Amino acid sequence: MKKIPVILDGDPGHDDAIAWVLANSRPELDILAITTIGGNQTLAKTTYNAGRIMSLIGLDVPYAAGRSKPLFCDLIVAPSVHGVTGLDGPELPEPERVIVEEEAVELIARLLETSNEPVVLVPTGPLTNIASLLLLRHDLKEKIKHIYMMGGGITKGNWTAAAEFNILVDPEAADIVFRSGLPITMAGLDVTEEALVYPEDIERIKSVGNDVARVVAGWLEFFYQFHQPLGYRGAPVHDAVAIAAIVRPDILMTREMYVEIELCGDFTRGATVGDYYGLLGQKPNATCIMDIDRVAFIELLIDSVASYGKGELR
Ligand code: RIB
Ligand code: CA
Repeated sequence: MKKIPVILDGDPGHDDAIAWVLANSRPELDILAITTIGGNQTLAKTTYNAGRIMSLIGLDVPYAAGRSKPLFCDLIVAPSVHGVTGLDGPELPEPERVIVEEEAVELIARLLETSNEPVVLVPTGPLTNIASLLLLRHDLKEKIKHIYMMGGGITKGNWTAAAEFNILVDPEAADIVFRSGLPITMAGLDVTEEALVYPEDIERIKSVGNDVARVVAGWLEFFYQFHQPLGYRGAPVHDAVAIAAIVRPDILMTREMYVEIELCGDFTRGATVGDYYGLLGQKPNATCIMDIDRVAFIELLIDSVASYGKGELR
């Protein structure tokens, strides 16, 4: 099987962590590196969490810390959702690797330069690292095959009425990415809030019985604690949908759309404004995922955690 080279960029974060568990279990993906960004928590915390996740799942690749704050505005963090550590809940192993000396953009640039084929980027946090790469190394655009990102929402926001968290944290970065002309698949709230893991699904994951399954179930239980009082039927595993878009596009429903990022609105800054009916006559710049076969998504997650050995917690 020809593997797809991917770089995972995120702000772990419970759903970033589950996305990385899923990606690492898929034989069709070749994870070249992990890069981190400030978002769910500070850069130091998301980077520490990245090292712990990599130890847990046995992912032995270079990882680098990225930008500590957005391009122009102050960082927003989300302790109410992900806790003080950014990954509260189950005990995790310590990082087995130290981060590389390069900053994330430098690491990504080096890997794009040396790869003998274009690479897929999977940002699941604010887009500051990806935008910075495009600004600093415009020459490497041709080595980026596709961007599968979690962020935005055509019909809703989750941090303000209009804006989803990842885009709101750095709207200017999102604007640079969406104007880049690169192929983008956007897993926005339209689909990710349908990608719900119900309590009964969490029990099924827990019953798989290995260490990774136990930790993933713990992450889901913690994540659900925040969402249940808001009326969610389950935990929305936002970021894992970006990985599902690569490995199981058949379980997703998509719509090509021209998407603009609102930068100036008093009430709408950070909104992903999608031209659903093509009224502007602009060429679509994103494949927007609008729905998911939730049952198939749950089976995908269960198959993923079941693929990890029973060994000791790494
Ligand atoms: O709005 C959900 C997104 O914000 C997810 O990527 C979550 O991890 C946070 O980064
Ligand atoms: Ca995230």
